[in-house]
Amino acid sequence: MKIAVVGTGYVGLVSGACFAEMGVDVTCVDIDEQKIESLKQGIIPIYEPGLKNIVVRNYDAQRLHFTTDLQTILNEMDIVFIAVGTPSDEEGNAEMKYVWTVADTIAENITKPLLIVTKSTVPVGTSHQIKERVQKKLEERGLHYLDFDVASNPEFLKEGAAVDDFMSPDRVVVGVETERAKELMTRLYRPFLLNNFRVIFMDILSSEMTKYASNAMLATRISFMNDVANLCELVGADVNMVRRGIGSDTRIGRSFLYPGCGYGGSCFPKDVKAIIKVAENVGYEMKVLKAVESVNENQKKVLFYKFNEFFKGEIEGKTVAVWGLSFKPETDDVRDAPALQLINSLLESGVNVRGYDPAAMEEARKKLNDKIYYAKDIYDAANNADALIIPTEWKEFRLPNWEILRKIMRTHLVIDGRNIYNKEELNNFGFEHRGIGL
Ligand SMILES: NC(=O)c1ccc[n+]([C@@H]2O[C@H](COP(=O)([O-])OP(=O)(O)OC[C@H]3O[C@@H](n4cnc5c(N)ncnc54)[C@H](O)[C@@H]3O)[C@@H](O)[C@H]2O)c1
Repeated sequence: MKIAVVGTGYVGLVSGACFAEMGVDVTCVDIDEQKIESLKQGIIPIYEPGLKNIVVRNYDAQRLHFTTDLQTILNEMDIVFIAVGTPSDEEGNAEMKYVWTVADTIAENITKPLLIVTKSTVPVGTSHQIKERVQKKLEERGLHYLDFDVASNPEFLKEGAAVDDFMSPDRVVVGVETERAKELMTRLYRPFLLNNFRVIFMDILSSEMTKYASNAMLATRISFMNDVANLCELVGADVNMVRRGIGSDTRIGRSFLYPGCGYGGSCFPKDVKAIIKVAENVGYEMKVLKAVESVNENQKKVLFYKFNEFFKGEIEGKTVAVWGLSFKPETDDVRDAPALQLINSLLESGVNVRGYDPAAMEEARKKLNDKIYYAKDIYDAANNADALIIPTEWKEFRLPNWEILRKIMRTHLVIDGRNIYNKEELNNFGFEHRGIGL
């Protein structure tokens, strides 16, 4: 089987490489020439544990190819996956122009049957719109008899664990409307079935909806816990205890109950916005998700408020060490990262920022330019700082040498945006500790 994956970002590159690992002949396509050239040389444009090995191994084995030219390879393919970005537009809708460009390139160039699969996260109804668009173009080209199928196969991988998630997912969701599409997708995913996971086939609209509903549910758990954490602070409860107390109820479960400084990244914020818009477009109001979004916006400001409150508003000219710039650990992705919002608020108030991240320094620099100092390690960041703020819980931050930090920091304040430290322990080392919901 030959497949193309269009869009070689976090999802496209991981999917393409993992399909190739299972023996499929895969061509990854991107419009970014530099990215494609780097990939051919074994340079991986994103930080994703385990990805490089798989890419290099399969490229060397000639099962994985890279190109910028979808037109030329299109008619050799059995399946084309669309895995381009769908960021928010100004109004919060999913920006669909990248998806339409790919659909149009397919429509203008196919000459034989093909299965077009939407892997990007897209508003409900998109795959049908792709079908109409391609059909219309084929009719204009006099190829109305050319048979093609569409399917939806949303992706649930997590950045930072993307390869493992793709290789052994909890489930694969596939939306189809023809037996032929179902057969092809079954063949493609069969090698993964040996690992005992389920492919859930459904209709296309339900498949597209499942992706949004899934991210919306996870975002809801996070905002719910942040709300509970804020209340814990006001009534004197400890949210860590509350989390354990409720998470051990099997009806609730433990995951996604960690309070913090808000969710960020390239998915939750835009997908929550997009599903609200999808509902608005059909005259329905997603009241819960509007609240989820509003709690999150507020939560992303909490670290700044705690810092400002500690210094009673006298923060101009202070210096802050920010450990963790990516939106979560194990990724270099800084899209919508709470750390960047925090840093911008600090800079606007005349605070100097010394930032450090194990993987996201380069990506952060693209957003912040020379507005902050880019430290070479955690201690360099903390030098002469009036506060240490942790928006992202990378493992290497968990057990720092507090004696060194005590010596090099000017004011001994730690604002722990992910509750990774023990308050008492820090107090014993002479630090003030501010967590979330403690
Ligand atoms: N990042 C995640 O963790 C994640 C997880 C699940 C689903 N998704 C969804 O998957 C989709 C892709 O996300 P991502 O994070 O991989 O995006 P990304 O921004 O990392 O990558 C998108 C890629 O598409 C390329 N592209 C744009 N237009 C193109 C075109 N016409 N032809 C070829 N390539 C083109 C871009 O150059 C870029 O390399 C989105 O819809 C996203 O919501 C993302």
